Parts: sequence; C-alpha cells; structure tokens
Amino acid sequence: MQGSANLNLMIKAARRAGRALVKDFREVENLQVSAKGPGDFVTKADREAERIIKEDLMEARPTYGWLGEETGATAGADPTRRWIVDPLDGTTNFLHGLPHWAVSIALEHKGEIVSGVVFDAAKDEMYWAEKGAGAWMNERRLRVSGRRQMHEGLFATGVPFGAKKTLPAMVADLARLMPGCAGVRRWGAASLDFAYVASGRFDGYWERELQPWDMAAGLLLVREAGGFAEAVREGYDILDSGSVICGNDGLFDAFTKIIRNL
Ligand code: IPD
Ligand code: CA
Ligand code: CA
Repeated sequence: MQGSANLNLMIKAARRAGRALVKDFREVENLQVSAKGPGDFVTKADREAERIIKEDLMEARPTYGWLGEETGATAGADPTRRWIVDPLDGTTNFLHGLPHWAVSIALEHKGEIVSGVVFDAAKDEMYWAEKGAGAWMNERRLRVSGRRQMHEGLFATGVPFGAKKTLPAMVADLARLMPGCAGVRRWGAASLDFAYVASGRFDGYWERELQPWDMAAGLLLVREAGGFAEAVREGYDILDSGSVICGNDGLFDAFTKIIRNL
C-alpha cells in the first residue's frame, strides 16, 4: 500500500525519533539501579524526540501549524493544516524499562484527522492510517475484531493517576463492566490502546482526561479499521472533551451503554 507524501514524511520522522528513543531506552534500563534513577534522562529523551520530529516535519512543510506535547502550539501560515504530536506516549512505561511506548503523529486538515502514525519502536510495529485508505500495521491491513458477545470482549482503559479527578467514575465503570467481560487491561500508552483496538487485539478502549496528542493518530487507526469512536459524554467532541470510548462494530453499542450507565 502506497501512502501520500505527507504520510511518508510522518513515517520517516517517527522512525528517526523511534531510533533515538530505542537507544535511550537501553540506557534507561541500565539507569534503573542507579540512586538518581532515569528521570532527568527520560525528560531529555522525550524533548529530543520532539525536536527530531519537528525538524523533519516543519522543514518539509513550513506553512503547517504545530501542536506538540513538549513544545506546545504554534499557528502556521496555512491555518487549515497542523501536526499533532506526542513524541513519547507511555512515558511511565519508558521510565520503568517497560517496552510499551510509542511515537504518535497526526495530521489535521480543516479540523479533521486525515493521516495518523503510531510507531511502537521497541517492537518495530508501525501503525498508520489515512482517511479513506484503511489502517495498516507495517504491510498488513488492519481490521477491528469480529467479537459480538460482551463476555468474550477484552477491553483497555487508562486508570487515572496523580491528581486526576476521574478516579471515582473509573471505579464505577469497572464495577459495571468487569463482571460481564473477559478482562480489562491498563497498559499505559493511549496511542497503542487505539492501535490494539484497530488490530483486533482489544475489542474496545475508553479513557477520560486525555490530550489531543494522545488520541489524534489513534482515532484514525480505529475508524479506518472499521471501528467506532465517540466521546464518553454523548454528543461531545472527542479531542475537545479529552475522553473517548471506542470499539469494534459488534460490541460498540453494548460497551457504550455500560460505560455511560444507560
Ligand atoms: C499518557 C499515556 C497513558 C494515559 C495518560 C497519558 P504520556 O501519555 O497515554 O496511557 O493514561 O493519560 O497522559 O504522558 O505517557 O505521553
Ligand atoms: Ca501521551
Ligand atoms: Ca508524551
């Protein structure tokens, strides 16, 4: 499958940042045993990854706008297009030497995500999607799972940490969902939770208090793989509300009803 020029640019940037992160990740594994720990080192790795991506993308498309987790928002001369970038999604995993993190890059055009790349560099899994062209992992076309029974469904979520306010809602969600499904996973990288729904590994995923860069690329993966996605609160915009519920076509309605407590 041949992607657009923009998609190829995104893949190249994700690979270059991914290579740098893989090198840093090996170092992080060594730093676990040091008294100081790998904290500062990871902050530097994260910033360096965004610098690499920004350099590649903005050099090639200097008129596009930019929204990156580490460097914030910059308006472009072309107000209709912007990159949305999380250079390292799954930072806590990276920091602890867990090989489950990704580079996430999306391109938005007139308020719509048109291309998305999620690169799991540690496993060399390149997930990508373009509007109307499907979702792919390396050379393989992706399709959401075919499961239609809630009791067979495996779901992913993000459990609020630190000062996040949605812990009670999450505990209530789990109490309603868990007795009737095959399990719930919290793997700590939102972009890969989406990618795993797109590839049929998970049957659904929901989370609150996310940022646009956690979701933009992953959302397109799920939709282009035949899945559905909405904000947790019905009728709200996903990126604006910072919440999402997504899943395969067979379970989305039942799953949504449980999470929304309908
Ligand atoms: C985080 C991860 C995590 C999600 C958090 C995000 P970061 O992104 O995607 O899975 O639960 O809400 O902030 O900080 O690792 O880029
Ligand atoms: Ca993130
Ligand atoms: Ca991040």
